[in-house]
Parts: sequence; C-alpha cells; structure tokens
Amino acid sequence: MIWQQISHWSCLLKGLIFSLLLQPLMTQPSIITQPNFVLLLADDLGIGDVGCYGNDTIRTPNIDRLAREGVKLTQHITAAPLCTPSRAAFLTGRYPIRSGMDAINNYRVIFWNGGSGGLPPNETTFSKILQQQGYSTGLIGKWHLGVNCEHRNDHCHHPLNHGFDYFYGMPFTLISDCQTTEEPEMDRAFRRKVWLYTQMIALATLTTALGRLIGLFSVHWKTVTCLALFSLLFFVSWFSSYGFVRYWNCIIMRNHEVTEQPMVTERTTSFILRESISFIERNKHKPFLLFLSFLHSHTPLLTSEKFLGKSTHGLYGDNVEEMDWMVGQVLDAIDKEGLKKNTLVYFASDHGGWLERQEGKRQLGGWNGIYRGGKAMGGWEGGIRVPGIFRWPGVLPAGKVIDEPTSLMDIYPTVVHLAGGVVPQDRVIDGRDLMPLLQGTVEHSEHKFLFHYCGTHLHAVRWHQKDSGAIWKAHYVTPNFRPLGAGACYDRGFCPCFGEGVTHHGPPLLYDLSRDPSESQPLSADTEPLFDTVIEQIGRAIEEHRRTLTAVPQQLSVYNIIWKPWLQPCCGTFPFCWCDKEGDDKLADL
Ligand SMILES: *[C@@H]1O[C@H](CO)[C@@H](O)[C@H](O)[C@H]1NC(C)=O
Ligand SMILES: *[C@@H]1O[C@H](CO)[C@@H](O)[C@H](O)[C@H]1NC(C)=O
Repeated sequence: MIWQQISHWSCLLKGLIFSLLLQPLMTQPSIITQPNFVLLLADDLGIGDVGCYGNDTIRTPNIDRLAREGVKLTQHITAAPLCTPSRAAFLTGRYPIRSGMDAINNYRVIFWNGGSGGLPPNETTFSKILQQQGYSTGLIGKWHLGVNCEHRNDHCHHPLNHGFDYFYGMPFTLISDCQTTEEPEMDRAFRRKVWLYTQMIALATLTTALGRLIGLFSVHWKTVTCLALFSLLFFVSWFSSYGFVRYWNCIIMRNHEVTEQPMVTERTTSFILRESISFIERNKHKPFLLFLSFLHSHTPLLTSEKFLGKSTHGLYGDNVEEMDWMVGQVLDAIDKEGLKKNTLVYFASDHGGWLERQEGKRQLGGWNGIYRGGKAMGGWEGGIRVPGIFRWPGVLPAGKVIDEPTSLMDIYPTVVHLAGGVVPQDRVIDGRDLMPLLQGTVEHSEHKFLFHYCGTHLHAVRWHQKDSGAIWKAHYVTPNFRPLGAGACYDRGFCPCFGEGVTHHGPPLLYDLSRDPSESQPLSADTEPLFDTVIEQIGRAIEEHRRTLTAVPQQLSVYNIIWKPWLQPCCGTFPFCWCDKEGDDKLADL
C-alpha cells in the first residue's frame, strides 16, 4: 500500500518534472523567432570618417541610411585600440586580457599566419553558441586571430574551429606588402637582413672558390657548390623585392583550404562582396549569422577602379566610399530576399583611425573627428570610440540616437539572447545585453565602469555616474606624443603602452567627457570639487575588476608571435607555397 502510494507520488513527481523541463522546449519556437544577424565590421575606420557622425565631405549614404532606419550609438567603445585584441573581445564578449589576447610586450597583434598564438580553442565565441542554436554561421573577410597551434593544418585558432560553418577571406590582415605597387612595410626590415646575409655568403663563396683554385684551401668542390647555391638562393630571395612576407601572410582561404597564395588583390573586394551576398542567398530559409569583416579601410587601401579618384579625400576617402557602397549592396541583398524585417544589421569599426599613417601630406589612415588620439593609443578616446549602428525595422526605433556608454563586447550577450541561447556561466562575460537600451525600455546602459587597456597595461577607466550624467575618465598612463603635442607618435608608427614612451600620472588625469569630449582640459582638485571622490570610486572599481582576472597563457608572447615554418599555411609543398585556385574564369562571370 505504502509502496503503491510512493510509486504513485514519484510518478506524479516525475510527470511534473518532465513537463516542467519540456515546457520551455515546447514553447520556445513560438516565443522566439530567431532573427538573422548581419554584423559589419570595418577595419581602422575612424568615427570622424562617417557622414552620420558629422563628416560632411565624405559620402557614406548607405551607412547613414542604416542610422536613419535604426539606432545610432554615439559612445560605442572598443575593448582595445588595436585589431587582434579588439576582435578577440568582440567575439568572446570579454576583455582581451581574459583570453590572453592582449600583450605584455610590444607585439600587440598577430604578426604571422605561421605564428602559434591565437584565439584559444576553449574560448566560446557568440558564433559557436549561435551554431548550437541552429544558426548557419559565416565569416567573410578578415580574421587576424591566429591559425595553427602545433601543426600546419591543426587549425586550432581557425574560424571553423570557433563556431563558423563557413569562412572566406584572409586569416591574417591586410598589410602594404600584399599589394605589389606599394612599398612593403614588413618586408623592408626582413629584406635588409636578407641582403646582409646574401653579401656575407657570397663573399664566403668567392673566398673559398678562389682559395681552392690557387690551392690555398683543400675544401671539396661540393662545399663550394653548396655555398654558391646558398648565395644564389639568398640573392634570389633578396631580389624578389616583395619577398616572402607576401607569400606567407597575404593569403586567402576558403574554409580549411588555401585558395590564393599570394592573394590577387585586384579581385579581393569583388570576391568578398560576392561571397557575402551568396551567403545570404544560400541561407535565407534558415536563421543565419553573417559576420562581414571588411578589409576596408586598412592600408594599403585596396580600391577598385570605379572608386579611384572619386572622393575629396584622396585614396583613403575613395576606399571608405567603396566600403559604404559594399554596405549598400549587402543591404540591397537583404531587401531583395525579403529579410529586412527579420534581420538585425550592425555596423561598427574595430577601433579608431590610424593617425600616424601618412605619406607626406597624404592621409592614409582614418580620422577620429573631435576625439583625441587614435589607433594603438591606450585610453585616448580617438582610438576606442567608434561608429555603432543597429537596424532592425519594426523592433528597434528608427532614427534614434543613444549617448550612453556601450561596448563592442555587448554584441555577444545581445546576439546570444536573441538567438535563444545562454551565455557561458563558467567565466566572466564583460558585455551586456543591449536590447533594453536599444528598444528604450531602460534609460541607462548597464555599464558603470569601462576599462581601457593598452596591451595588458591598464591605461584609463571610464565611470558613467548615472545620477549626475557625468562621464568621468581617469588616465593613469598616457603615451608621449612625438612630435610633442601633435596627438600621435609619428616617429614610431605606433604609440607604445609602457616604458620610456609613456607617462604615468599620479594623481591621474581626469576629464568629464560629458563636458569635455575632446579631453582637452584635465580637471584638478582645485577646479573640480568631486575630484577626490571620483578618483577614489574609480580606484575601488579597479581593485574589484582586478579580482576578477586570472592568469591565462599569453597568446602574444614572443614564442607565440614568431614565424614557425612548420605552422605556415601552405598551398603546395612547403616551402613552395603558391596557388591560385579561384582562377580568372570565375572573375569573368562577375
Ligand atoms: C571627413 O573625413 C576625411 C577623411 O578621413 C577627413 O580628412 C575630414 O577631415 C573629415 N571631415 C570632417 C568634417 O570630419
Ligand atoms: C582555457 O585554458 C587555459 C589554459 O589551460 C586556462 O587558463 C583558461 O582559464 C581556460 N579558459 C576558459 C574560459 O576556460
């Protein structure tokens, strides 16, 4: 009797638990209609380069249209002022210091496809979660987060190992070496060394050969031949003026396969556009995530004939206008497939414009508007405040402008929640769901403090004091501008994060960005009654933040950064890596 009752109860209980468990599963599809995501990320584009952010001479009608039809963020902040760490943070929703993707040393980005550092396999990108939620996920364009760990084809850091079903583009980043008409930047240093070795070996060959002829040495002719071959090899590699770097770094991959080595830059733009549109067309019947990671507007500014000489801002302006046109083409494809109402489109840049990038008076880097500093410069606003636009007709208001502090890391939880997923619970996620703010159900962003790193060095902290509306920013370390006062490090190409090239501030330099967005007049205890209170609050926030950090393997350590022949992605038999699998016939039907 008792047993019967117990089994009766346990049966009921089981039924109850079962129905509770099942309920969310059964109701989910009706509540959540998973939207598509099209994430557009520009490379090195400054906030001052875009029409809807106040530029009246550069033409960006398509990006402006996105803003008109959606929400424009005016305080959208990247987690780092450089590509590799900023992109790592974007994809993981975490400060790059948490994944080991920001540097202690001066190697602040990935330098070679043949390096061993990269986005660790145990980091979970939003794309991976979307994949589990049934999404079709594609990355087209730039990656710059590593390829291999231990073997040439282990692809441990590759996009396909990080939640993307499809990848077409550069595992690395554009550099001037990629375009044969440009003065190569990486190769220059490389070639100087190779030339030195060429001369040394040639001299050794001549001496041994002469010595042998007149009977001074008794070396074997084989040795002489060997030396001669070596000097020939060195001479050839020196002579091919765009030596190895272009073959090692400027490559295109489709999924796991290298398809162009080196890449054919004349057609890269049209291929990236074609791939993006065809990804949308292929996946229109299921939820998809397209991450279009532009090679624009990074030097060497690959620009098609159609746009050359068309802007009033030289090659840089031409390149930005071409990118805007590409944005338009992608939006048109979304419209054409009838996906506009079901697609969240996002546009941003990975960090601010590169001020040092000039050739004489010619501007080759971006423009950061009224904001001070730029790419690579720790906490200065110009390097981290970027355009940020969301469009989702019918769900998000049109033409709305939000001045609250937001982060590129916020995309992570926003996208994951909309897809019906859950963010990982076993680690700190620094991003915050943006939907309530974008839809206007809350007034303030969830971010109280944002930490502005330069490598692993904390340079500045922002505190949004919600009750007063003040946006305090304290700089503990700032780069020394050279030439002094110019707001950039022209003699170095990049500002450093530590050492002789920076100044430590005690007390910190304090600004209120709500009154002084250009960070022109630091406040002091004399001019600002709240000075001490603010510094104290920020100091406590830093302590709290530091307690959440744990030691992780350094992905950008010297060992991980250097080029390793056994990791070099290669089309062919190493070291004879050369191929063009896209063929010109495919270009013809564009
Ligand atoms: C517009 O962008 C160009 C190109 O970066 C820049 O040179 C120019 O100063 C910008 N104009 C304004 C008003 O910001
Ligand atoms: C990934 O692995 C490293 C090395 O074992 C570890 O330190 C780190 O905490 C792990 N990260 C996550 C998110 O689990």
